[in-house]
Amino acid sequence: MNSEIIRIEKIEKHYEKVSALKELSLTFYSGKFYAIMGVSGSGKTTLINILGLLDNPTAGNYYLFQEDTKSLDQRQKSLIRNKKIGFIFQSFYLLSHMTAVENVMLPMYLDEAMTLEQMQEKAIQMLSKLGLKERTDHYPKELSAGEQQRVAIARALANDPDIIIADEPTGNLDEKNEETIFKILKAIVKEGKTVITVSHNKEILKYADELVYLDQGRLGERDA
Ligand SMILES: Nc1ncnc2c1ncn2[C@@H]1O[C@H](COP(=O)(O)OP(=O)(O)O)[C@@H](O)[C@H]1O
Ligand SMILES: [Mg+2]
Repeated sequence: MNSEIIRIEKIEKHYEKVSALKELSLTFYSGKFYAIMGVSGSGKTTLINILGLLDNPTAGNYYLFQEDTKSLDQRQKSLIRNKKIGFIFQSFYLLSHMTAVENVMLPMYLDEAMTLEQMQEKAIQMLSKLGLKERTDHYPKELSAGEQQRVAIARALANDPDIIIADEPTGNLDEKNEETIFKILKAIVKEGKTVITVSHNKEILKYADELVYLDQGRLGERDA
């Protein structure tokens, strides 16, 4: 039922002065919510950038959908990123000159089979699902931080990805909005997707199925 989506084996990431990841091995399955925690500098962003094909490991193996990612060229990687992985960031990264619905439509332009009308309809549907039915024509600056992040989530889900990767998605939000976002992520997992979320807040443990705790680039134990 829960199939293997991602497997990394002895992944290393070395920068000039530091080793950010050391011999890290992990498997991620469909229909599961993963929380990645650890102090600042423990390698969380480095890890999810590698998982999201935004960066390459220095050593080790990365199998995505059971295929070795080493053989993928840049074009294939960006296709996979657009189709199979949705990204959510702490600072939303919405385009300020575009409305909510236009922001959500952006990733859909890569789907040549979709007409503009279909994109619009789907984007409105996604925004409605996230409680933003009345906000579709608003520009980011006309939205609260929590609403902006929900637009960013709708955009991340636009192409129906199998994997959602979020780096501190609630870092700029208050408690109430954080709860909303975690609940949304949990609902996405229920649909069978894999959600991998970096968070500093242990509230996430109420929602996550698995905790990946990083300690100086290795798996560690979280202090109580
Ligand atoms: N592009 C980079 N160049 C050099 N060092 C980096 C780079 N990115 C991250 N690091 C270093 O790697 C370590 C892990 O960083 P990071 O993955 O951002 O940690 P976290 O997200 O857990 O705070 C840190 O020591 C950081 O300074
Ligand atoms: Mg980070």
